Amino acid sequence: MAEAEVGDDQYGEDPSVNRLQEEAAQLLGKEAALFLPSGTMANQVALKVFTRPGDDVIVPWEPHLVFHETGAAAANSGVQFTVVGGDRGAYDVNDLQAAVKVRGHLMYPPSSLVVIENTHNRAGGTVFPQADAVAVCSAASAAGLASYCDGARLLNAAVASGRAPAELAAPFDMVSLSLSKGLGAPAGSLLAGRRDDIARAVRYRRMLGGAMRQVGILAAAGSVALAQNVERLADDHANARLIAEELVASPAIGVELDRVQTNIVVFDVADAPSFVAACRASGVLLNAFTLHRVRAVTHLDVDREACQAAVEVMLTVAGVDRVWTSSDRT
Ligand SMILES: Cc1ncc(COP(=O)(O)O)c(C=O)c1O
Repeated sequence: MAEAEVGDDQYGEDPSVNRLQEEAAQLLGKEAALFLPSGTMANQVALKVFTRPGDDVIVPWEPHLVFHETGAAAANSGVQFTVVGGDRGAYDVNDLQAAVKVRGHLMYPPSSLVVIENTHNRAGGTVFPQADAVAVCSAASAAGLASYCDGARLLNAAVASGRAPAELAAPFDMVSLSLSKGLGAPAGSLLAGRRDDIARAVRYRRMLGGAMRQVGILAAAGSVALAQNVERLADDHANARLIAEELVASPAIGVELDRVQTNIVVFDVADAPSFVAACRASGVLLNAFTLHRVRAVTHLDVDREACQAAVEVMLTVAGVDRVWTSSDRT
């Protein structure tokens, strides 16, 4: 990063950013790519590119762009959402077709965009079935909808499924990728798609205040992340598996092992905020997703021993005297 060659990226003159964008476009098999400060901005820009205020966007269960972006989609793009599919974050072409509003109807909002999240954060890092992605995007295109993949963790999906990133990205008009999660860069995300769509994204990135100047210092770290930290995501997946398989032994913790497909473990406890606070006091950082649901994420800064130590803390905090049942969820 210290040695990165830089220029003014607001004018497209930062060589390190331009190189990263080319690398990402090639990796994802798209014409062009755009560097942005965050995955949230990538989602918000994609919504601006493909929708107009009042449009209907078809999304999976509890997507990041509805749950974790402080209402930005409503504020920035003025869209409404139709949720399809179950709590694993997947859905199929029948779900899509049942949700698409008939064109030209006097009262219906236009369905203009379909979104898939791969892997799905709140579902626990689940991988979207590729055959369904292909069928959904093809049906969407036939019905006049654009398609977008929130691929913040697309490379986790690629490693877990053994499919090339370009294959996962192929069905979509636009796809995002985060450099600052499991890939370990300090900041940055990318959008990739057709050249004319990316040109529009450049405008909306600026509108949202995300056009930066000598930002090659961050792009350089992004290039390292793509070159060196993709294959090792398999270690994060193995560590998440280890955590889940240890936690499942506790009667105080509810884990569905078949959700654990990548680097995320979601599990249920009687009181998630207290559980998270107690674990934090012992040095284990977790998120409380709901009053009962907790998320643990593995990444390149936590090795197997650290994950084992985290498990010991979580099991101690959970205790053995409080038995978790799914009726606790209500
Ligand atoms: C699926 C998904 N999309 C987008 C984002 C947003 O990324 P960022 O934190 O860089 O804004 C996240 C962050 O966790 C995510 O899980």
